[in-house]
Amino acid sequence: MNITFRQEQPKDYSQTEALIEQAFRNEVMTDHQEHFLVDRIRKSNAFIPELSIVAVNQQNNIIGHILFSIISIENKEQATPSLALAPISVHPDYQNKGIGSMLMKEGLEKAKAAGYRSIIVLGHADYYPRFGFKPASLWGIEAPFDVPEEAFMALELEPGVLERTSGIVHYSKAFSE
Ligand SMILES: CC(C)(COP(=O)(O)OP(=O)(O)OC[C@H]1O[C@@H](n2cnc3c(N)ncnc32)[C@H](O)[C@@H]1OP(=O)(O)O)[C@@H](O)C(=O)NCCC(=O)NCCS
Repeated sequence: MNITFRQEQPKDYSQTEALIEQAFRNEVMTDHQEHFLVDRIRKSNAFIPELSIVAVNQQNNIIGHILFSIISIENKEQATPSLALAPISVHPDYQNKGIGSMLMKEGLEKAKAAGYRSIIVLGHADYYPRFGFKPASLWGIEAPFDVPEEAFMALELEPGVLERTSGIVHYSKAFSE
């Protein structure tokens, strides 16, 4: 299987959105609105074009996508910039073949290279820890909404970088529109 990874381009948008809709179709813990979220993030100032990455198969079809966008972790003293990972999608025909893991690896490397220092994710507590994510509560980082503690996770892109960070995560408006 020859899969390549590259930055998403505007010409890809409709194909990416169709892929996201298909990837989440059989998920139960979702409102099936993820493709609309991606559209709103792209139009917002939280969007980082190089951190919208697609996986492409040999026929040039988009079969996976990952998106990281700007958030901040805020307390009374400081606002620390961070990234939200949301969403990650692999086409149902291509799931469980390692493509999600490769998208994660590619995304984490690009995020680190671009100078970002941490990532926050809300998701499956038995999926993200394999990439190093831990409950955000370990650092006193909280979600701005009610969520099971183990599903709200954080990853340090530089060891120790979250040690002096605590507070509530502020998502861009794209997440609440
Ligand atoms: C989650 C997703 C991106 C993983 O991509 P993938 O290419 O199938 O993942 P990989 O092949 O790299 O890894 C497969 C592993 O992930 C696990 N996994 C996949 N989906 C999972 C889920 N929803 N919860 C927990 N583990 C999951 C598989 O059980 C498998 O585990 P194993 O390695 O121990 O056998 C993909 O399944 C997907 O698009 N799902 C629908 C959308 C979604 O739920 N996105 C994440 C929102 S939090």
